[in-house]
Formats: sequence, structure tokens, C-alpha cells
Amino acid sequence: MFGIRKRQSKNHIELDKNNIPCHIAIIMDGNGRWAKKRGLPRTAGHGAGADTLVKIARHAYDLGVKCLTVYAFSTENWKRPEEEVNNLMNLCMKRLPQIVDLMEHRKVAVRFLGDRSRLPEPLVRMIEAEEARTEEFAKTGCFLNIALNYGGRDEIVSAVREIAVRVKENELSPEAITEEVISSHLYTAHCPDPDLVLRPSGEIRISNFLLWQSAYSEFYYDNILWPDFSEADLERAILTYQGRSRRFGGV
Ligand code: FPP
Repeated sequence: MFGIRKRQSKNHIELDKNNIPCHIAIIMDGNGRWAKKRGLPRTAGHGAGADTLVKIARHAYDLGVKCLTVYAFSTENWKRPEEEVNNLMNLCMKRLPQIVDLMEHRKVAVRFLGDRSRLPEPLVRMIEAEEARTEEFAKTGCFLNIALNYGGRDEIVSAVREIAVRVKENELSPEAITEEVISSHLYTAHCPDPDLVLRPSGEIRISNFLLWQSAYSEFYYDNILWPDFSEADLERAILTYQGRSRRFGGV
């Protein structure tokens, strides 16, 4: 059984170190509302959200999480005003080197999930270089996955296309298509499925994030806007996870 340890104070939570989720996925939501509350432009909210990403990633790996997947830009986010889209792309260009420095220091491999064909060319060059910089750490099994122009349905479509090509070229028979084969064609092939999916900011939906991979994930929602999300909030989410009984469809 999963042990729930008592909470010792508001900011100190004692977690069961033997039951830390291996893979946590986060929908970093609420940046716009955080900025609006302060009379700031939405872009300020995204900048503050990038600071929170650094803080939470650091704490997650300290706690023993192996894989962290964060939703930075969805295939639907192109519908936002051009200025906000450009700002998000520029924010990635500006902040990625610092985030990858931190990961390099922690021996965590950085991977980008999503369709790169629509991303600005300089950003594509940067993410390729940043992946290469930390590739040697893939052997540690620790990953930071940054979903950029990512959509769960789009990912499944592209996996199906790749598998169809293999079938057409007689590399694979239709009968040999299993769940494992499909998983191995997803952007997340290098990680186990997420144990825990977090969505702060009060929205309770999946928004096209890791649709295949989250089949048996535990979900955790709270009302905190992402830029305000703290290390203690992460621990609270993990504590809640540790209180869940995961049966994967069994009894
Ligand atoms: C959703 O909140 C957030 C996003 C679409 C962007 C998330 C991006 C970051 C936190 C920056 C990541 C940075 C790097 C370098 C990877 P929202 O804007 O929809 O918030 P709202 O619902 O309050 O409007």
C-alpha cells in the first residue's frame, strides 16, 4: 500500500521517498491571468512562468523524479495573437540556454516534443543544439521534455503515418502493430508513461496533452496560477499522488 506521511507544517511536507512518481507531466497554465491580476502584459506572465519552470524542475529532480514533461506551446496556441506567439518563441530562444545549463549540471537530457516544421528556423537550430548538448545524459534515464508545437492528436497522426510507411515497405505486418509499437513512434518513446499529470490554475481538462500516454496517469488539479506554483505545491501534488491507489484497471 502507498504510505501517506503526515504534513509537518504549511511548507514542509514529508513524502514517501519510495513512491516518488517517476514521470510528472505539467500543463503550465495561468500565466495570462497571473499577469492580468498585476496589470502586466500577458508576456510578463509567460516570463514569470519560465522562472517557475526552472524552480519546479530543480525541485522535482531533487525529489527523485526522473522525467519531467512540460507543455510550453501547443499546436492550438498558434491561434493566439501574433504578438503573443512571437513573444513565446523569443522567450524560448532567450531562456532555453539557461534551462539547459541547469539540466547539464544535473545530468538531465533535454528533449523537445512536437512538430518542428512550423517553428522559426533559428529556434529549430537552437533546440537541436540543446538536445545534442545533453544527449550523453540520456543514459541516466533523466529527461526534461519540453513540448513545443505539440498536440497529442497530431503526435498520434504522425506515429500512424510512420507505422503505415513501415507496413507499406513490408518492414512490419499489420498484426505486429501493438501498443508498444505505437508508443515507440511517439515523441515520448524514451520515457515511461507519466505517473502524474498536473494542471494548476483551476482548469480541469487535458487540452490535447499526452493523450495516449496518460491512459493510466493520476491527475492533479489546483487553483494556483503557474507563475505562483511553488516547491511546496509540487510536494502537495506528490503527496496526493501517494495517497492514490493505482490499479491500472485491476482490483
Ligand atoms: C498557458 O497559460 C501557458 C502557455 C501557453 C505558455 C507556457 C510557457 C511557459 C511557461 C514558458 C516556457 C518557457 C520555456 C523557455 C520553455 P495561458 O497563457 O493560457 O494562461 P491563461 O489561461 O491565464 O491565459
